[in-house]
Amino acid sequence: MSDKIIKIIDFGGQFSHLIARRIRDIGVVAELVAPENFVSDKNIGGIILSGGPRSVGETDSPQIPDSLEPILDDRSLPILGICYGHQLLASYFGGKLGKSHSREYGSTRIKIISQSDLFDTDEMITWMSHGDHVAELGDNFRVIASSETCPIVAMESDDKRVFGVQFHPEVTHTQNGFELLKHFVKDVCELNLSGWSMQNYSETLILDMKKQIGDNKVMLGVSGGVDSLVAALVLFKAIGDNLHLVFIDHGLLRKNEAKDVISYFTNDLHIKNFHFVDAQDTFLDKLKTIEDPELKRKIIGHTFIEVFEKKVTDLNKEFGYFKYLGQGTIYSDRVESGAVGIGAAKIKSHHNLTLPDDMELEVIEPLKELYKDEVRELGKILGAPEKWINRFPFPGPGLAVRILGDITREKIRILQNADKIFMDQIYYRSIDKMIWQAFAVLLPGNAVGVMGDSRAYGRIIALRAVQSKDGMTADFVNIPWDILGEISTKIINQLPEVTRVVYDISTKPPATIEFE
Ligand code: XMP
Repeated sequence: MSDKIIKIIDFGGQFSHLIARRIRDIGVVAELVAPENFVSDKNIGGIILSGGPRSVGETDSPQIPDSLEPILDDRSLPILGICYGHQLLASYFGGKLGKSHSREYGSTRIKIISQSDLFDTDEMITWMSHGDHVAELGDNFRVIASSETCPIVAMESDDKRVFGVQFHPEVTHTQNGFELLKHFVKDVCELNLSGWSMQNYSETLILDMKKQIGDNKVMLGVSGGVDSLVAALVLFKAIGDNLHLVFIDHGLLRKNEAKDVISYFTNDLHIKNFHFVDAQDTFLDKLKTIEDPELKRKIIGHTFIEVFEKKVTDLNKEFGYFKYLGQGTIYSDRVESGAVGIGAAKIKSHHNLTLPDDMELEVIEPLKELYKDEVRELGKILGAPEKWINRFPFPGPGLAVRILGDITREKIRILQNADKIFMDQIYYRSIDKMIWQAFAVLLPGNAVGVMGDSRAYGRIIALRAVQSKDGMTADFVNIPWDILGEISTKIINQLPEVTRVVYDISTKPPATIEFE
């Protein structure tokens, strides 16, 4: 068993990064590289060619890089081609490709027709996403799996060094796909499965950041959210006092949030260069009388940039030149913004800062390769408490999109208090594990109630708690009635302005998670 790594040559497929993620989960270091940047080196123990959106025969479609040809010709390393990678390998070794009449998109049952190190089942449900297929194999290759409409779903060279699969083993829709990748890494490449761990990764990441940043200064905006917090932890370990954190309070945070964030960074972590900007008045003045949700978002976004830019300019004057702007971007943010993949748009600078001409900040993103659960694991390894790591997501515009209609300081105060009672009960009753996101909302208008002997006319609070994987779809959570009842009683008893509490039982779609 060796400690070598897997190189993934990325032909622009939407799942290429997921291959790296799976190989890491198996316990082996995996690195993605663009075809033109592939260089053979002694540290590589196996190569995977990813999927891709193009057709192999098309003009200008990415091809086997010249630097890979000697490896393919003398079979010095095991190779696995996935989808486009499978087709490229088949074609390189003299096979023929065809266009499928009935395109095999989505789920397809395949049969394993010949024993191979890759498979340990007779049948599998696989996930495919390409119109092209391998129609004929070159010499010294054999078919190892077929489907009803695609005779060559998987192939293997007679010397068991080159493999190809038409489907995507890296996606969870493919049954046993993880096992297939594990067989390739463990049984074919014979790599040590304890080569990658988050602990080792965190140490390497911190060293890399240290090397890249050198003695320069980094400015990083933090929000109290997990991504910017973990990015801050990595950078602080790497460069210490050369890290400057900027935290802007727009006045629409959870109750006590600003105090808690300041206390965590300054008292618990002892970060010396923590810069708090109390911009509540600026934001709330601009939002006065604004009712339209999208306009609220726009105003908050623009004002955020203005306030941040002003702070950067001031800090630059006070502390001297800042070379880098840190960002808590994680891998899925880059997929959403179209920053990953061949021909994808270049990453947008987070807030499109327009700084003075003589001040150019280079972006540094310590978490850009990680998925959310990996960011949380890294945060734990770096010592962040559960409370900060497993918090519910909180939208950038904050309570502005949870106060329906215009925003006033009084409404913010009522909502903060109701939300705090709801959150406290969720943790006190230990129902937080069944919830992905929860919050209170202040509805517009008033409702009648009876307070003491007199009629009251008060506010309506809605409670929302959802279960979700990634926020794209969501189900409301079945919080037991007695707990909901107790939360309602507490809110109405403790907040004289509120006469009614309702629970939202809509799913997304068609409803969204937030109310605005
Ligand atoms: P929706 O309401 O679209 O929310 O179902 C899905 C997830 O996104 C969060 N969200 C936002 N986050 N800025 C953000 O940073 C926003 O404008 C915004 N709107 C919604 C929401 O809290 C949920 O987790």
